[in-house]
Amino acid sequence: MHLRNPGRRFSEMHDQIELTSIQYWDEWWATCPLGVVSASDPAYGKEGWFLRFMDRECGSLQGKSVIEVGGAMSYRLLALARFRGVVPTVVDYSSLGLDKTRELFALHGIAVNCIQADMYEISGCYDLVTH
Ligand SMILES: C[S@@+](CC[C@H](N)C(=O)[O-])C[C@H]1O[C@@H](n2cnc3c(N)ncnc32)[C@H](O)[C@@H]1O
Repeated sequence: MHLRNPGRRFSEMHDQIELTSIQYWDEWWATCPLGVVSASDPAYGKEGWFLRFMDRECGSLQGKSVIEVGGAMSYRLLALARFRGVVPTVVDYSSLGLDKTRELFALHGIAVNCIQADMYEISGCYDLVTH
C-alpha cells in the first residue's frame, strides 16, 4: 500500500480521525455506577464465560503482566486479576475513568497499576495486551 507521507507518525494521523475526546470520556465515567461482581457471575465470575474463553485461548496467566489499553473500569481485567492471578495495568487518558478504575478494583480488594496516557504513546513490555 502506498502512503502519501510514510514518514508521518501514526499518532498524528490518529488525531485527525478521533471520534471521541478525553472530555467525552470524563463525562461518561463521572456518571457510571460501580458495582460488586459476584464470584458466580455468569460473565465475569470465576467460572464465567469470559475466563473460560481466556483459559482456552491463553492457558495459565498466573503471575503474567496484562495491560488493557483504554481500560478504564474494565470488568474483564478485574476478573483476570481476581480469579486468574494476573498483574493488571490499565492505560487510559481519562483521569475520571482511572479514578473509577481504582475504586472498582479497591472494592474487590485487588491492586491495579493505572497509567494516564494516550495509548498510542506508551511503551513497555507486557505478557498480554487487551482492549
Ligand atoms: C468503550 S471504553 C472501554 C472501557 C473498558 N476497556 C471496557 O471495555 O469496559 C473506551 C476507553 O478508552 C479510552 N480511550 C479512548 N481513546 C484513548 C486513547 N487514545 N488513549 C487512552 N485511552 C483512550 C477512553 O477514555 C475510555 O475509557
